[in-house]
Amino acid sequence: MDSIKRNEIDIVKIGASKINEVDFENLAFGNIFTDHMLVCDFKDGNWQKPTIKPYEPFLIDPSAKVFHYGQAIFEGMKAYKDEDDAVWLFRPDENFKRFNASAKRMAMPEVPEDIFLGGLNEILKIEKEWVKKGKGNSLYIRPFMIAVGTGVVAAPSSHYRFMIILSPAKSYYSGEVKVVIAEHFSRAANGGIGAAKAAGNYAAQFYPTKLANEEGFQQIIWTDDATHTKLEEAGTMNVFFRINDTLFTAPTSERILDGVTRKSLIAIAERDGIDIKVQSVLVSELLEAAKNGSLKEIFGAGTAAVVNPIVGFSYKDDYFELPKIENSMASQLKDNLTNIQYKLAEDTFGWTVKI
Ligand code: COI
Repeated sequence: MDSIKRNEIDIVKIGASKINEVDFENLAFGNIFTDHMLVCDFKDGNWQKPTIKPYEPFLIDPSAKVFHYGQAIFEGMKAYKDEDDAVWLFRPDENFKRFNASAKRMAMPEVPEDIFLGGLNEILKIEKEWVKKGKGNSLYIRPFMIAVGTGVVAAPSSHYRFMIILSPAKSYYSGEVKVVIAEHFSRAANGGIGAAKAAGNYAAQFYPTKLANEEGFQQIIWTDDATHTKLEEAGTMNVFFRINDTLFTAPTSERILDGVTRKSLIAIAERDGIDIKVQSVLVSELLEAAKNGSLKEIFGAGTAAVVNPIVGFSYKDDYFELPKIENSMASQLKDNLTNIQYKLAEDTFGWTVKI
């Protein structure tokens, strides 16, 4: 991967690393951050020189537009370490493109490739000790951009801050995942921002998800806002349904995030001869399949969650438990995907990029 040129980035290194204080065996997702962060501002119509500096809080004016109008977007990526201690990214160009598509939808400036990908390359070189070897270990990468321009006029900011922070990670969900099928609340609507990785899409899910949590469910499978009949995505993950031996996942749309894990699993399934259909499953079809025994698996797919089986779902007053399957499609696909990510299998797709 091309690096940003050294004279185009300021690097201020931390005095003493905090890495030895971290218990890498017991990581709760997204709580610990590495020693450095990348910061780059957009102001006066231009991107400024990026800086890599010690991870620390920073001041923002209380009238900054991010606080009032939610102009904020992010990405989720991971770095992996192979057996020879080399660090790899997985399809970083896809995250870069999606980030800028999100920026455009949120009336924010697009981030140049040398700042996003070049800056990421540079900070990962500095933080490579934080990427631990072994399947299941990764360094979660969170690039994000916020509107830091001041004033409570409801209009786009003219000053933005792009940042990259890094967090050592193991799994996202610590236990079994049971879901509720949405009947009333919606994650996104046509013409809205569902396809953008906008912070507000996640905040809007917190209340319905909290209600689901109170009932013992971890997530919601969102349905289309107009009819609540089509199964769409799970908010932190795209979703796949296996009915008999056919795997279904909804097509992307203005309401569904174009997940990198989702599209990689589709490509792997096609390569491996799995009967995969990019087609919406109706709630009625899911209920029918659950009742007649043809529903074999439901799983979520996302960068943070990787491939996560769903053990049961509730709809209205009924709860359906998924059968326990040996050699599930979820585990086969997860293995094939992670073998590529950790360089344990040949990457015939050309998805992995060395740092
Ligand atoms: C990811 O999978 O990286 C995401 O951005 C989802 C987030 C809620 C953790």
